Amino acid sequence: MAKVTIDGHLIEVPDGTTILNAARMMGDQHPETMQNVPPAMCYYSKLGESGGKCRTCLVQVTKGSDKDPRPMPKLVASCRTTVMDGMEVQNKLSAQVQEARKGVVEMLLINHPLDCPVCDQAGECHLQDLGYEHGAQKTRYEFDRRTFEMENIGDKIKLHMNRCILCYRCVFTANQITDGRVHGVINRGDHAEISTFIHQAIENDFSGNVIDVCPVGALTDKTFRFKSRVWNTKPYNAHRDCKHEKCSGQVAVWMAGNDILRVTSRKDKWGEVEEFICNECRFDKKELKDWIIEGPREMDRHSVNSNTQYMHMSSQKVLKPSETFAVLHPYDESKEK
Ligand code: SF4
Ligand code: FES
Repeated sequence: MAKVTIDGHLIEVPDGTTILNAARMMGDQHPETMQNVPPAMCYYSKLGESGGKCRTCLVQVTKGSDKDPRPMPKLVASCRTTVMDGMEVQNKLSAQVQEARKGVVEMLLINHPLDCPVCDQAGECHLQDLGYEHGAQKTRYEFDRRTFEMENIGDKIKLHMNRCILCYRCVFTANQITDGRVHGVINRGDHAEISTFIHQAIENDFSGNVIDVCPVGALTDKTFRFKSRVWNTKPYNAHRDCKHEKCSGQVAVWMAGNDILRVTSRKDKWGEVEEFICNECRFDKKELKDWIIEGPREMDRHSVNSNTQYMHMSSQKVLKPSETFAVLHPYDESKEK
């Protein structure tokens, strides 16, 4: 076991744990420290090999270990750096980290369009959340942005490459759920893009899961596109007796009144899919009679989406970036006079 201190909180974790996972364990044990967990745009605990691409999870190691207390010379990616006994790490407390994260967000937004008002991912987009916390008000970028034509990946998934941040999560998902992956990152540098080789559709029963792992709105569900803003729908846990041997049939249905507008997998508090679901559950079962509704889902992500959801029913405190709240002062009549 190794003892590590993150933003002044001590936790003991198994050897070989990454700093990011140590911070998440700390957040699990002490919910008040969840705000100290570094954001992750490419790491995904359920996907082998993920991480190390986006640099949003950078932290400062101020003490390497008890044996070698020298600080690490540069900021490190917490999803790829394992803890050492006695290590001391700063995330929220480090001005250097906050400055670097601001730079990373600025870089991710160089090509990512600010089309949140028309993007289906708005309200549950990790880049939108990061933009609230670290985004600059203006861009310094003066060159042409890269643009791509929208592409259909099969008949149910739309790829909007302009929004892609090349996190590779969808590629690793396809690696994990299929024997023969047909999409990936082609070309390099500014020309790098997610595409299906020879523009094939992803013919796989679980291909819809790439929508859920995409941290931005690059991959969207064509059966839900433009039907509603997510914060105007209510998520419920639901299940059905799915005949697919690898699908548990345990999903979240997003409803408006009695209509099921969208079906997704259930996500945990880190915004990660709990279990992959099959395409039949996701795309073809949109009737109330298809599902046994278990009850409303709690929203405990620090997303703008949780503003209209079950805040008051939540047993946990809802944590949000302070920027998403206006401080409302009681109306002072005396000022009118
Ligand atoms: S399409 Fe989405 S999941 Fe795939 S690499 Fe781009 S941002 Fe990541
Ligand atoms: S989450 Fe660590 S580099 Fe992307």
